[in-house]
Amino acid sequence: MGAMHSASNPYSPGAGRRPFELAGRTALINDFDLLISRAAAGRTDRGIVLHGLHGVGKTVLLTEFRRRAEEAGFLVVSLEGRDAEGGPKAVRAKLARGLLQAGRKASSRAKTPALAAALGTIASLPPACR
Ligand SMILES: Nc1ncnc2c1ncn2[C@@H]1O[C@H](COP(=O)(O)OP(=O)(O)OP(=O)(O)O)[C@@H](O)[C@H]1O
Ligand SMILES: [Mg+2]
Repeated sequence: MGAMHSASNPYSPGAGRRPFELAGRTALINDFDLLISRAAAGRTDRGIVLHGLHGVGKTVLLTEFRRRAEEAGFLVVSLEGRDAEGGPKAVRAKLARGLLQAGRKASSRAKTPALAAALGTIASLPPACR
């Protein structure tokens, strides 16, 4: 039975797999696009927290957010904070490493003065923060 309608089946079973149709997420995607344009204009905004039951679609939506931010020219860093992994200090170090990596990748494509300055700032953080 499994393969019968696999070509037209809109369901993409599996954690984090993008479904054929990202149903019911228009409002959240619009919120995120607004956040992107505010950030691009140099205005800070509150973050967005996605929460919900197992399998409701958090990872898929985060991946869509990532795609939209990258398309808008932002560097995106993914990191997971876990209590067992050293708390805020470890998360800060991971963030700095992620920023450096993403920044280097971006500057290998196009080196802008702003990017070079940002990379310099991150690279000059004390080792304990990296
Ligand atoms: N908006 C959506 N419309 C249709 N299907 C979706 C949607 N979002 C996610 N799915 C489907 O639901 C399943 C679970 O999605 P996802 O892995 O993103 O859930 P999750 O909330 O991150 O789960 P967990 O809490 O286990 O991490 C996947 O098969 C995905 O294709
Ligand atoms: Mg998930």
